[in-house]
Amino acid sequence: MGIMELFSPIAIAVLGSCVLFLFSRWKNLRGPPCIQGWIPWIGAGFEFGKAPLEFIEKARIKYGPVFTVFAVGKRMTFVTEEEGINVLLKSKHVDFELAVQRPLYHTAWIPKNIFFALHEKLYVLMKGKMGTFNTHHFTGQLTEEFHDQLEGLGTHGTMDLNDFVRYLLYPATLNTLFMKGLFLTDKRKIKEFYQHFKTYDEGFEYGSQLPEWLLRNWSKSKRWLLALFEKNIGDIKTHGSAGHSETLLQAVLGMVETETRLHSPNYGLVMLWASLANAAPIAFWTLAYILSHPDLHRTIVESISSVFGTAGKDKIQVSENDLKKLLLIKWCILESIRLRAPGVITRKVVKPVKILNHTVPSGDLLMLSPFWLHRNPKYFPEPESFKPERWKEANLDKYIFLDYFMAFGGGKFQCPGRWFALLEIQLCIILVLYKYECSLLDPLPKQAKFSSFGGCPPASREMPN
Ligand code: HEM
Repeated sequence: MGIMELFSPIAIAVLGSCVLFLFSRWKNLRGPPCIQGWIPWIGAGFEFGKAPLEFIEKARIKYGPVFTVFAVGKRMTFVTEEEGINVLLKSKHVDFELAVQRPLYHTAWIPKNIFFALHEKLYVLMKGKMGTFNTHHFTGQLTEEFHDQLEGLGTHGTMDLNDFVRYLLYPATLNTLFMKGLFLTDKRKIKEFYQHFKTYDEGFEYGSQLPEWLLRNWSKSKRWLLALFEKNIGDIKTHGSAGHSETLLQAVLGMVETETRLHSPNYGLVMLWASLANAAPIAFWTLAYILSHPDLHRTIVESISSVFGTAGKDKIQVSENDLKKLLLIKWCILESIRLRAPGVITRKVVKPVKILNHTVPSGDLLMLSPFWLHRNPKYFPEPESFKPERWKEANLDKYIFLDYFMAFGGGKFQCPGRWFALLEIQLCIILVLYKYECSLLDPLPKQAKFSSFGGCPPASREMPN
């Protein structure tokens, strides 16, 4: 072989790939074990994407408490025990904003400069509006909204439990946090909205990572939802301004417009997803768990009767004091969240961090799956059992959850809507069980361990009598 042939482009490419491969191996010597597949860029993407929860658990068993997955050009380092969790939540060398900026661009087209200019200010605003001192402002309106929806259902019938909770929760949330009567006016529009939101929500994880041209239906639904906000943004901003206190979305848009007028609909879309995507599946699971435990169901119905009387027809008002007397319902919600915690918590490593005897390099995404953390018997004894009474140990009066309960994330940017979510699900369960004698027509859906990260449960049925 002549010297010129040695430098042919193909030979250079092959040599280059070998050097890169050896370099990445060398770089990873002190790093956590890495599952990187064999397809360039895609890495372990196919296996991981098919069933991420199953993939993570198998990897933890094989490689230990810290391991890296290389997929679609990214290194994701999963932490599963306290050493890694502490780094993810407390280290100065990991960053929330850098981890979520790109996914947010993919899912809602919020440009990088706008995101960094606004994120912290918006977070502080939302945390204040939905914080523990302020949630009681929502109780009256949420109760009214649930009553309105329940009236529309009549006195008896059967319905898919998934549809049932969405029928109640979506309008109650949007009318309270966004604007009274925003979308949900005629039946055809409501159906269309549900369908597009479902497609957008189900594809959210993929949409946040993959190029949009690979996800045509998802992209169509995203555009539909954005167009809906574009059409309504003027109304949202001005609605009820005379004499009414502004809604959460109005306050958010007010702040967004200090930077940009163009991207208000995009922030509307993000808020829409954040406020509905997790709360509805959790309301589903809470009702499903309660109804599938007859003793617990009976105890809860009796406690509701002891507070509001036995008749199911009255339009009851629910006070803060009533909620305190019905603590068992709150425990059931938290226990359902523990078992059905959606999503992953993610931070970007900006300077190498040490976890156990590994060094996680900068650029990695640190990831934590609350679903698996909540199934670790070290932190939650008998983790697979639905045991609301374990929440007796939590200091809920002081707004403290159980240790290692991570469904709302943690650290500086913990979910700002968590108290609002707990309140609305509590009210929803109280009013449903007050109004209807319910029973499940189908057995509880199987544990969805091997599905995607999303929290959407399979269908089940519910029967008000
Ligand atoms: C059971 C229901 C809910 C669950 C399980 C949940 C969970 C989460 C989690 C895990 C995060 C990321 C936190 C982190 O990385 O540390 C988050 C962020 C967020 N959540 Fe929730 N959430 C729920 C309900 C809500 C509701 C009702 C709202 C109302 C608007 C909301 C608004 C948000 C927002 C705006 C963020 C982003 C915060 C930021 O950018 O800093 N969430 N949520």
